Amino acid sequence: TSNAPVAAEQRETWTSSTGFILAAIGSAVGLGNIWRFPGVAYESGGGAFLIPYLVALLTAGIPILFLDYSIGHRYRAAAPLAYRRMAKPTETLGWFQIMLSFVIAVYYAAVIAWAASYFIFAFNLRWGQDTLGFFVGEYLKVGDPEISTTVVPAVAVPLVLVWVAVLVVIALGVTAGVQKVNVIFIPLLGVAFLGLVIRALTLPGAMDGLNAFFTPDWGALADLNVWIAAYSQIFFSLSIAFGIMVTYASYQRRKANMTSSGLVVAFANSSFEILAGIGVFATLGFMANQQSVQVSELEGLTGPILSFVTFPAVINEMPGGAIFGVVFFGSLILAGFTSIISILLGVAASVQEKFGLSRRGSAILVSGICAVLSVLLFSTTSGLLALDTVDQWANNVGIVLSAIVMTVLVVWVFRKSETLRRHLNAVSTFQVGRIWIALIGVVAPAFLVIMLGQKLVSLVN
Ligand code: PHE
Repeated sequence: TSNAPVAAEQRETWTSSTGFILAAIGSAVGLGNIWRFPGVAYESGGGAFLIPYLVALLTAGIPILFLDYSIGHRYRAAAPLAYRRMAKPTETLGWFQIMLSFVIAVYYAAVIAWAASYFIFAFNLRWGQDTLGFFVGEYLKVGDPEISTTVVPAVAVPLVLVWVAVLVVIALGVTAGVQKVNVIFIPLLGVAFLGLVIRALTLPGAMDGLNAFFTPDWGALADLNVWIAAYSQIFFSLSIAFGIMVTYASYQRRKANMTSSGLVVAFANSSFEILAGIGVFATLGFMANQQSVQVSELEGLTGPILSFVTFPAVINEMPGGAIFGVVFFGSLILAGFTSIISILLGVAASVQEKFGLSRRGSAILVSGICAVLSVLLFSTTSGLLALDTVDQWANNVGIVLSAIVMTVLVVWVFRKSETLRRHLNAVSTFQVGRIWIALIGVVAPAFLVIMLGQKLVSLVN
């Protein structure tokens, strides 16, 4: 019956490598690239941050991306079941990763919902001159005693719509749902974002912004927190060690060039990320120019404030700002949506395989729970505060822990790395040497353990 767990042979697949690559890029390129990366890079040494960033990409990012792909593609299931097939006790790790993804989805949806609201506000610059007051006070209603514990309808409505859209795509499945959305959204996002960056670069002051962004603070390289920021950014941005790429790879056909696809995805993701940094800082350079201050004197350059307070303020000053605003928030929606559907597919497929539910049943169950949690946590006035804390723990601690446990279990405890390496090489044109095992078995976990220790000390203090 349709309720039986899907046998490996009948598993849905991406219809082409392009389908898989676009979906994987869709998962990778998200809010992390547009609003997380520029701020993190700026705070962590500017141009000098590119060094830890590249080191993290090469020593952990690409190697763990290959690891995710190899497990999903070989064991052909979402994370928990794929791990279980690899070595029974590792199923728990799969559930830990799925739980992290779940937590991220709950707040990620809130940011997409804010972007959806701002997409509409942008048409007539509804936010007015006091963009901070508008975002925090009027839109999120922070500090409003009347509704400090109830749901804010202006946030809850778009949030519910986001979850309904996610549900529909997941229920349609891998080919008709996820792949189709990505095949349309990702090229559209590429064009829209390129347009934004070109526009930003032609604004007066753009070059000052780029100077502020790229001027290296070499001293930052001595700070371990800068390194952990680079690794966390790479993990979050590539969607790795969350069980999500395991799931995506499990839907790839048996004969598929996995490692070459991985290189394309990693390259596209980092290019997009650096482009986003350029676009965002060119825009900030314009803002500094308008206010006759230095870029370094500007405030509100990170997190939600950057996109929802600082950007609206810049858009107010820009000739043709409304168009820029519509395209900017539209891009956030496209980027965010193609990422959140990857998370939900990972969670829903795991639940489906574990409990033998139908695809629709698990999609409804999981999206429903997420929707309720999102609305309760993030459309009430405490949402803004909760977001930062959740981001800290899930992304700087949770995901690093997940990567450490995953690499140690695969390489040392269950000794599967050689099997996985041969698996990758049997299907791919780009051959993975033994250095891969050294990276995932020694270099990455050693770095990560040191960084996690340091991070925990700094979080507890
Ligand atoms: N990679 C996405 C981004 O950069 C976020 C994400 C994390 C997606 C984990 C899937 C899994 O925004």
